[in-house]
Amino acid sequence: MKLIQVSDTHLGEPGERVFGLDPAAALEQCVAHINAHHADAALCVVTGDLVNAGTGSEYAGLKRVLSRLAMPYRLIPGNHDARDALKAGFPDMRLEGKDFLHQSVETPDATLLLLDTHEPGKESGRICDGRLAWIEARLAESAKPVLVFMHHPPVAIGHQAMDRMPLRNPGPFLELLGRHRGKVRHVFFGHVHRPFFTVLDGIGYSSVPGTCHQISLIGMERGDLYASSEPGGYGVILFDGVRVGVHMQAFADAAVFDV
Ligand SMILES: [Fe+2]
Ligand SMILES: [Fe+2]
Repeated sequence: MKLIQVSDTHLGEPGERVFGLDPAAALEQCVAHINAHHADAALCVVTGDLVNAGTGSEYAGLKRVLSRLAMPYRLIPGNHDARDALKAGFPDMRLEGKDFLHQSVETPDATLLLLDTHEPGKESGRICDGRLAWIEARLAESAKPVLVFMHHPPVAIGHQAMDRMPLRNPGPFLELLGRHRGKVRHVFFGHVHRPFFTVLDGIGYSSVPGTCHQISLIGMERGDLYASSEPGGYGVILFDGVRVGVHMQAFADAAVFDV
């Protein structure tokens, strides 16, 4: 099974630029690259910060670009999103829950749990008791391996400024995953706008670059926070029922050579 992870698309109003970059043009280039090279993917998951301000017109713009994807897609809210506008913009997304937008997606090889960590007005994220109970029930009932997708990192990444806006109080969530170690194979997140990998308690964790601006590692121990124009990218996830493989693919024009 092949899955695509796209994250932190940060679409603004038409023509709006972010740190001098054009998020809509970047996402169009990303979608074209995915379609050209990974049209066989079963699903594309966009892991939050879909738009910048959470307006209906931003989500309409997002839908216009994502509708060109060759495969189905699913959306997860991030801190820049707004639940009501997201639900209104994508009424056919089968977003579960009245107060949160968790989604469970069955594939032949795995159950995908797409988690809503959004907290209105906050940069950090949260999994409240209700959201945790939903996850616990899905983990208990799934007979397949489980892949988890979410916006906020539940693990520290060692970048001080980003670690100040993580998933708050991750303990109960990590403890729940630990109880299902072996079933939970990997946790994919966004928010940090760069690739990161770690293993904790026998479970793999990774993030992907944003499609538009990135977060620089410059000054990471000092708590500095710089956006950067490093190349945007997306993740290509391979799962054979046993092993999870994660590739990072930049999508800006690049020459390729016969080897
Ligand atoms: Fe973001
Ligand atoms: Fe974020």
